[in-house]
Amino acid sequence: MTKTIQHAVVIGGSSGIGLATARKLLGPGMKVTITGRNEEKLKSAWKSLGGAAEKAAFDASKPDEVTRFFERLGPFDHLVLAASGGKGLGPFPTLDLSDIGSGVEEKVRPQLSCLQAALPTLNKAGSVTFISAVSAQLATPGVAGIAAINGMLLTVVPILALELKPLRVNVVAPGVIDTPWWDFLAEEQKQTIFADYAGKTPVGRVGQAEDVGDAIAFLVSNGFMTGQVLTCDGGLRFAA
Ligand SMILES: NC(=O)c1ccc[n+]([C@@H]2O[C@H](COP(=O)([O-])OP(=O)(O)OC[C@H]3O[C@@H](n4cnc5c(N)ncnc54)[C@H](OP(=O)(O)O)[C@@H]3O)[C@@H](O)[C@H]2O)c1
Repeated sequence: MTKTIQHAVVIGGSSGIGLATARKLLGPGMKVTITGRNEEKLKSAWKSLGGAAEKAAFDASKPDEVTRFFERLGPFDHLVLAASGGKGLGPFPTLDLSDIGSGVEEKVRPQLSCLQAALPTLNKAGSVTFISAVSAQLATPGVAGIAAINGMLLTVVPILALELKPLRVNVVAPGVIDTPWWDFLAEEQKQTIFADYAGKTPVGRVGQAEDVGDAIAFLVSNGFMTGQVLTCDGGLRFAA
């Protein structure tokens, strides 16, 4: 008997959490396509997967490119939405409120736009996993902007789980994870921030991309999980 091979697409799969997710999902029963904007970065990610994945470079914030990608891709089973956005951090009194709009354009809209464009070809028995952030669940000064952006993704998930059923729709909310997302900081500053968060986090460390990749792979594979927010933060949510 031939075993059915499923196909997962990881938008933002060329780095960090998306790449770690692709590594977890790839296997005899799962074909994976990774995407990103930067072709060089994508190629190096693809090489790190032993050339075993498919790859496609496009900008998920550009609707025409999104539509073209899914039209070319054809039928597939699982969609992981890991494209990043970094706007909205900082104390509220001095927060540039235009960063909230930019954050929505960089993160929320691309994730929703990919799902919408994917619907005609995404297997109804499959899954979609958004990536939000634990900032949307924290009462911590300095995260109001980024929480507003990420909170949108937490809000839509239970609605979409009903509206798009039987497609399963979930979201992972990562805590502080050591990925290139933090490369806007100088190395020393980054290590100081990580040490501070490690001290506050019940498990005593910041996360690795693989920690979140595991959580996403669980949601992809467990056919009884839908409408859920899976927080993967080492307990930071309760301690920050
Ligand atoms: N790291 C953390 O501490 C943390 C915490 C909470 C939530 N998150 C969330 O987790 C998700 C993954 O972040 P990460 O930490 O893995 O960051 P990362 O290492 O910077 O990876 C981001 C990925 O998204 C791709 N990407 C960004 N914008 C894109 C676009 N417009 N179109 C297509 N691809 C795009 C990037 O490739 P290109 O640049 O080549 O396009 C890259 O593959 C993000 O949504 C982030 O907000 C991260």
